[in-house]
Amino acid sequence: MNTTQESQALVVGKNVSRSFEQGGTGVQAVAPASFEIAFGDRIAIAGRSGSGKSTLLHLISGIDIPSAGDLSWPALGTREDLRPGRIAVMFQSPSLLPTLSVLENVALPLALLGVAVDRDGKALEALGLFGLEDLAGKLPEELSGGQAQRVALARAIVGQPDLVIADEPTGQVDRATGTAVMETLISWAEASGAALLIATHDQAIADRLPHGWQMDHGRLSTARQEMAL
Ligand SMILES: Nc1ncnc2c1ncn2[C@@H]1O[C@H](COP(=O)(O)OP(=O)(O)OP(=O)(O)O)[C@@H](O)[C@H]1O
Ligand SMILES: [Mg+2]
Repeated sequence: MNTTQESQALVVGKNVSRSFEQGGTGVQAVAPASFEIAFGDRIAIAGRSGSGKSTLLHLISGIDIPSAGDLSWPALGTREDLRPGRIAVMFQSPSLLPTLSVLENVALPLALLGVAVDRDGKALEALGLFGLEDLAGKLPEELSGGQAQRVALARAIVGQPDLVIADEPTGQVDRATGTAVMETLISWAEASGAALLIATHDQAIADRLPHGWQMDHGRLSTARQEMAL
């Protein structure tokens, strides 16, 4: 990134909304929402189940397209420029490729980015951050749910993205492990300058991040407030 890029926002949403057709009726998962994410921002996004968190994260990552409104990535380019690399996502549902080892899963973004040198070493380093080096040779089916989530986090950070979006990254681990995972992610982001956008139901984790967004029945509030879990 250069100075001009850094002075621009990573993501800007203006009245962005997303509706789905469900059995002939429309569901507005995200009501018109306006927001901005800058380089180095740390944002927790909270809200009850079904309030639209994952849908909003998918829009921001460029994986999904808004039904209406204007979504742009001023410092990154067009939606097509985002992948691989600039924005990395850790999905809420399992997303490791089942026939690849843990190490191969984590190294995959580096291959897509065209990194030629020491992909396995970099992947091992990312796994090591989360204390997972010993799992490198295992297949995803041999992992616990919480281990698989951490492997997916290692895969999200390995390519040095500008924004990491993590959808309930500690949803399947105990409180102490979840806190340790978050501390690792925050330290990594501080060192790399990446922005974090993290959906969580855990108030303690939300409190570790300076910005708190809230979703309520599809409506986004970007002002810090107590979470409704
Ligand atoms: N692909 C889809 N097709 C139809 N409806 C969808 C789709 N994705 C999400 N929805 C609907 O949009 C609403 C918001 O869903 P979303 O997954 O964004 O919620 P969430 O806040 O992430 O919930 P959770 O905390 O349970 O993960 C729900 O009513 C859901 O049924
Ligand atoms: Mg969700």
